[in-house]
Amino acid sequence: MADPASFRKRMGRGSALGKVILLGEHAVVYGVPAIAAALSEGVSAWAMRGQRGRAHLSVPSWGLQATAGGERVGDRAFAALCGKLGLGDDGVEVVGEPQIPAGAGLGASAALAVAAARAIAELHGRKLTPAEASEAAFASEMVLHGNASGIDNALAAYGGVRVFRRGEGLSALRVGASLKFVIGHSGEDGSTLEMVEAVASLHRGRKADVEQRFADLAALVGAAQDAIMAGDRATLGECLIENHAILRWLGVSTFALDKMVDDALDAGALGAKLTGGGGGGSAIALVDGDDSAVLAAWRAAGHTCITTEVRGSPLPILAG
Ligand code: PMV
Repeated sequence: MADPASFRKRMGRGSALGKVILLGEHAVVYGVPAIAAALSEGVSAWAMRGQRGRAHLSVPSWGLQATAGGERVGDRAFAALCGKLGLGDDGVEVVGEPQIPAGAGLGASAALAVAAARAIAELHGRKLTPAEASEAAFASEMVLHGNASGIDNALAAYGGVRVFRRGEGLSALRVGASLKFVIGHSGEDGSTLEMVEAVASLHRGRKADVEQRFADLAALVGAAQDAIMAGDRATLGECLIENHAILRWLGVSTFALDKMVDDALDAGALGAKLTGGGGGGSAIALVDGDDSAVLAAWRAAGHTCITTEVRGSPLPILAG
């Protein structure tokens, strides 16, 4: 039997972070800036040499299997990732182990892609820069989201609290006072691909109206950025509420997400909105220090919650 040390050398390992979008999802696909913060948790991946010519990915806890060369969307996304890494004919087996749920608007697919890219590169004796890891994952995200802005893969690869603009990438954001968010899952999985397509269809049909909402959002993101830097939680809360109203108008909210926003505000949150692709997935609520009332309201309605605090660095998860 091979000794454990030599076995380990034949494995590559990678990890990457999930994220919450604080403001600007969907509009970010069209060039509006968005603000996002990395979570302290994400996805880990392990890569091993596999059968020559076969690249295979599995994530047992998500029931996900993907084989490069297959027809399913996951197969095509994984093939795009492997293509960017220039694997050639080398076989590889990748196993993912997530600490965050999929379909929750927390950037799980991008975290998996960055983690897998890092693991595969390590197996081949390479260490990817954050830019290389982000770029490889972007190829996979383009398949999964149809038209991805690149925000998820950038946050997964770089971490931190950032402003992202398509074509320009990330810039760091100074956080004036720490911000406590409750993240709650609506109980319904959201399909980012379907929601991005729904917004694209609305944009084709009602371009002027949608562009007006995007302009409103760009102003909102600017105001939120100032509020974050100034540590002005009350203004940031207002921005979140207005952002949710625009996402509702765009058609990506659901009854459950709207109710979560209402319940959070009733429980004293400074602001709340859906986060990520919508159509299900998660909502976030900004609280003024004490998260117990929002946690109680959302948990009473059956939502799984975590509390997270945005400082200037990746977010620690405070409560399960
Ligand atoms: O659903 P998530 O966490 O993958 O977030 C997607 C964010 C969108 O703006 C809806 C799409 C994108 O690629 O920017």
